[in-house]
Amino acid sequence: MRKFVLGVIFMLMVMEVGGIGFDLIGLIHKNANTAPPQMETHFAMSAMDNSMERHAARVNNPVPPTDENLIEGLKIYTTNCAQCHGGLDRQTSVLGKSFYPPAPSLILYPLDDPEWHVFYAVRTGIRYTGMPAWDKTLSENDIWKVTAFLTRVEKLPSAVQDYWQKSSGTAAPVEDAEGHEGHNHADHK
Ligand code: HEC
Repeated sequence: MRKFVLGVIFMLMVMEVGGIGFDLIGLIHKNANTAPPQMETHFAMSAMDNSMERHAARVNNPVPPTDENLIEGLKIYTTNCAQCHGGLDRQTSVLGKSFYPPAPSLILYPLDDPEWHVFYAVRTGIRYTGMPAWDKTLSENDIWKVTAFLTRVEKLPSAVQDYWQKSSGTAAPVEDAEGHEGHNHADHK
């Protein structure tokens, strides 16, 4: 049994050193202008989710989702995040799509994660990607505000939808009863 375990450890070391060797002599592509292969994406996503499960604190958002706080969150998003994650005009960001892995469009495909998860990703950033850590640029309060906004993109109160419409000339996306993106607030006026 001991021999078997040592054998496995030895094999893993050979694979690790072999992998680093391959990388060092330039066999692994470093270009960012292709889509990541499906297996790489799948592996990276699982590793990322598991790391977050392990490290992120399960905290509730201390900032209440009032109209003012959500509008603040929207403004923080527009100033700091939209250039990579897509603007309120609901266009994808070409710059965001040029990262490896690409930045997801958080307006067109709103997040479906708990707030502690989003807060953690924004505060700490995501290693080996274009996603910066925002803990030195934004206050904790502002990170919670943008988190409140991003987790409610399709469920915003009407005052915030009105602000969205006025500031971008585009109606805010609104989820229908089945949870699909459906009618816009503006359509009902
Ligand atoms: C310079 C480009 C850039 C900027 C600016 C940026 N991000 Fe990102 N962001 C990325 C990239 C690239 C990823 C994808 C990382 C990955 O796939 O693991 C990402 C991922 C994320 C994720 C994880 C999404 C998921 O599916 O779990 C969240 C949440 C996020 N960003 C929020 C923000 C917020 C909020 C801001 C502004 C405060 C912001 N980002 C600013 C590039 C950016």
